[in-house]
Amino acid sequence: MRIGVLTAGGDCPGLNAVIRSVVHRAVTHYGDEVLGFEDGYAGLLEGRYRPLDLNAVSGILARGGTILGSSRLERDKFRAACENAKALAEEIGFDVLIPIGGEGTLTAARMLSDAGLPVVGVPKTIDNDISSTDRTFGFDTAVGVATEAMDRLKTTAESHQRVMVVEVMGRHAGWIALESGMAGGAHGICLPERPFDPADLVAMVEERFARGKKFAVICVAEGAHPAEGTMNYGKGEIDQFGHERFQGIGTALARELEHRLGKEARPVILGHIQRGGTPTAYDRVLATRFGWHAVEAAHQGVFGRMTALSGTDVVMVPLAEAVTELKTVPKDRMDEAESVF
Ligand code: F6P
Repeated sequence: MRIGVLTAGGDCPGLNAVIRSVVHRAVTHYGDEVLGFEDGYAGLLEGRYRPLDLNAVSGILARGGTILGSSRLERDKFRAACENAKALAEEIGFDVLIPIGGEGTLTAARMLSDAGLPVVGVPKTIDNDISSTDRTFGFDTAVGVATEAMDRLKTTAESHQRVMVVEVMGRHAGWIALESGMAGGAHGICLPERPFDPADLVAMVEERFARGKKFAVICVAEGAHPAEGTMNYGKGEIDQFGHERFQGIGTALARELEHRLGKEARPVILGHIQRGGTPTAYDRVLATRFGWHAVEAAHQGVFGRMTALSGTDVVMVPLAEAVTELKTVPKDRMDEAESVF
């Protein structure tokens, strides 16, 4: 069998572990050939690929990023190219495509599958917001980075009696903010799923200072926003999913708190630090399992599906189910987090 593999969308720790796993299982167990398309779907559409053998994936398990490169998708260009998908596969000569990516990549995978191309998807995103899988690899690494940042920020905040507003990634879903905020002992967590009132944060900081705690750390997801009429923050932009997207919430909130509290508040934007670098052991294992199962699915002819974690098992779920809506933080998880502030 000839297997094509590509990584598309924003990168994520663990992508190389999937590629390595696919190559090992395919080459060693089945005697397959693996082709790696460069820079995501761009490489597929432009016929840019290279053969991946055991040596090509040697030493990449712990490496962040992706050895294949990645790119964002231009949906319209892709939709048009989809019509030629089967011809393209025949021309390049592969039997199945394994695209590794987030919501956009998996939507494109579904389009290819609908166009008749054998596809087995592998979900990835540090945001953990893909429905149909309990976890995505990359999330554990991102949460670890953000947690360590909050541990570090607490000591400097305390020395200077400051409020630290830590902005973490998560445009539409607040999983990173929720879990790193809990693990890092944040005193406030703001998520896209629940508009916040800055007055509640002011009250929290004042209560801490009143009982002798002279600092506070607030973890805010980049997609979090104030409840209407609670803070002058302007309007967000409507993105491709129809969600209102606000810019620079960490900085705006720090400024607002400083003004209302009369105390120093500093924004810290973690940004792409959360996406770079070596994956945690958990992410390496999950990524390796996803790669293994993707190859098995390819050999069993289970197409139009993606690997997913269900409890502790890896299962195959229809791509159609995976990309209908994003998995956001449910109310009970937000309530749990708030109870430990
Ligand atoms: O989708 C993952 C993600 O990390 C989001 O949380 C973030 O908003 C986005 O990627 C930023 O990606 P880029 O700067 O690469 O467009």
